[in-house]
Amino acid sequence: MKRILVTGGTGYIGSHTCVSLLESGKEVYILDSLTNSNKTSIDKIKLIFSKRNIDISNKLHFFKGDLRDKEFIDSVFEKIKKQGNSIDGVIHFAGLKAVAESVNYPLQYWENNVIGSFNLFKSMLENNCKTIVFSSSATVYGNPKDELLKETADINPINTYGSTKFTVENLLKNIFETKTDKWNVAILRYFNPIGAHVSGLIGENPISKPNNIFPLIINAAYEKNKLKVFGNDWPTYDGTCIRDYIHVSDLAEGHLKALDFLFKNNNQLINLNIGTGKGYSVLDLIKTFETVNNVKVPFIFSNRRDGDSCKLIANNLKAKQLLSWYPLKSLEEMCLDGWRWKLMNPRGYS
Ligand code: NAD
Ligand code: UD1
Repeated sequence: MKRILVTGGTGYIGSHTCVSLLESGKEVYILDSLTNSNKTSIDKIKLIFSKRNIDISNKLHFFKGDLRDKEFIDSVFEKIKKQGNSIDGVIHFAGLKAVAESVNYPLQYWENNVIGSFNLFKSMLENNCKTIVFSSSATVYGNPKDELLKETADINPINTYGSTKFTVENLLKNIFETKTDKWNVAILRYFNPIGAHVSGLIGENPISKPNNIFPLIINAAYEKNKLKVFGNDWPTYDGTCIRDYIHVSDLAEGHLKALDFLFKNNNQLINLNIGTGKGYSVLDLIKTFETVNNVKVPFIFSNRRDGDSCKLIANNLKAKQLLSWYPLKSLEEMCLDGWRWKLMNPRGYS
């Protein structure tokens, strides 16, 4: 049985990935500062399994602490070692992710995302753990020329958040290139994860005010405040921007497949786009949400948002071919599951 350290495992994508890891029989060690998450997500993960009459209490562990503190990371490896176990691989989600905030607080973003990652990789090496899946983002492509993005597209981050992600990608590449240590690295560039676990027990629980479209659609439907749609004059079929929305549980499965790929193939460095390869406009998303959930999403059109791209869709062929990973869930399921999470947890985990 493989033992996996999941940094940021109580967060949105991390918690869904923990479910996938546990379903595949892995033992999970979460490391999280809880800066943007809630420990209740762990109880909810346990509940998902207890409802299936599966006891995972001795397979899911939690360490509260911050990646900026290397001694803390070392102590986690040490504690696991003292139990006679070792970590086989790491999935590294922990970090800050709000684009606008990153521009205003660059030092905070570089410290959390880059120094935190640096500490983690150093501690991994010292503990002879050299297999890692890293959460990157399509944001590293900046404002790309092509609308269907391949991994070989130009990298040109246009904000602090994107720069920190690309720096960590480069750090991993340099670490991989060393002759002495054989690392196994998967860099996953996510497109637009939305939705929630089908159980309605775990989902997105942003502590600060969300800027991404999906939690704002949910809030508009729930609170009846108007969503601002950023521009209706884009050169698309309905004038609104197009994105590649992916169900968070499909994204979670992508991590599991990437990790298993690394365990089966030694000394790999792979960069993969993780999206569905299908694009939907903002109006498509709003209308689908309204139809499947039988609710109204009040909205108004406003100006374009600075730095927005018209259309971003993943070319996901590499992930499909290499990992045999296929996104299975439709836009309808993303909207149904996201709304179920809201109705079952109107105030998130609090
Ligand atoms: P999230 O905020 O829900 O999860 C991140 C977790 O990391 C949180 O639980 C937070 O408490 C923890 N954390 C942050 N800084 C930490 C630190 N220094 N030490 C320890 N823990 C720390 O975010 P998410 O949406 O689940 O995103 C996970 C990862 O995926 C992030 O790295 C993010 O940049 C990346 N990503 C997210 C999206 C998206 O749309 N959600 C898109 C592309 C990439
Ligand atoms: C944003 C980030 C990107 C990050 C990604 C996933 C920017 C410029 N980019 O991308 O770095 O990797 O989230 O976390 O912030 N929209 C509205 N009204 C709103 C919010 C969004 O109309 O209030 C529209 C946007 O114009 C866009 C679509 O919804 O067309 C999706 O927006 P968003 O969820 O912010 O994701 P991205 O723009 O793809």
